[in-house]
Amino acid sequence: MKGIVLAGGSGTRLYPITEATSKQIIPVYDKPMIYYPLSVLMQAGIRDILIITTPEDQINFKRLLEDGHKFGLNLEYTVQPSPDGLAQALLLGRDFIGDDCCALILGDNIFYGSGLEKKLKQAVINAEKGLTTIFGYQVKDPERFGIMELDINNNVLGVEEKPEHPKSDYAITGLYFYPKGVSDMASRVKPSARGELEITDLNRLYLEESKLKACLLGLGYSWFDTGTFDSLLDAANMIKSIQNNRDSVICCPEVIAYHNNWLTDKELEDRAILLQKNAYGKYLFKVLKKGKKK
Ligand code: DAU
Repeated sequence: MKGIVLAGGSGTRLYPITEATSKQIIPVYDKPMIYYPLSVLMQAGIRDILIITTPEDQINFKRLLEDGHKFGLNLEYTVQPSPDGLAQALLLGRDFIGDDCCALILGDNIFYGSGLEKKLKQAVINAEKGLTTIFGYQVKDPERFGIMELDINNNVLGVEEKPEHPKSDYAITGLYFYPKGVSDMASRVKPSARGELEITDLNRLYLEESKLKACLLGLGYSWFDTGTFDSLLDAANMIKSIQNNRDSVICCPEVIAYHNNWLTDKELEDRAILLQKNAYGKYLFKVLKKGKKK
């Protein structure tokens, strides 16, 4: 299973913050935004990840994440010359994906909740069986999102992008697990009225073949699409309060990698020494002292 983080876009909604840098590099409390979606793919057990950025920002992502070895990952990079739609990620990633299944996550989406790992692993199993999985989250302003309509057994009846009159309040979050052949499927998507290759149109193609499953993230989960000043601050406040209450660091790629056996004690220690001046680094030492989960 491969993974793609789509971290392009114009970022104009967050100007002036993003006038000189990419949105997915700015901090959400104590870590760069892209650490959060990377952590989600890593919790799903995905190590081979493609980072898609704007041409001008790629250099900064490479400085931040390098080839991924500090998180036990194999990272590759490619650029999206202009923001022509989320589904384009699966076309830009065609060679990288090859004959594998692939998860796609938006670089500005933050997920948190106990039990997430189990749901992600189920989505991997679904993809291996030829099914696509999308994740639903109840919101108060469904017209701002892609929406899934469900029957009483949570089977998907329809998907719509930012409908004026939403048929449900379940937003489709920016996380998608696709089976083999997703690039071919994405090449069937035509540009929408706003000129973008819409991810919702790709998902509808799977629905038409009865290959679209929904996984609902209920009350125990938090999801943020950090596209506005307020959602950015809300996400940071949530991370701060969870971390401070538990004296831990959530969505921490080093720790996920360590427990996945992708980093040795020595490799985690090297990161801890580098970050030792703050609570993040101290947490890495704490994890090291406790050792790997059995
Ligand atoms: O966050 C979930 C929502 O994301 C879904 O509910 C919608 O179905 C989906 O279309 C998307 O809606 P947004 O309005 O949030 O999409 P936006 O254009 O803001 O792009 C989301 C992120 O992806 C943003 O960080 C910019 C980046 N992006 C966007 C486009 C269109 C790219 O990197 N490349 C692109 O071509």
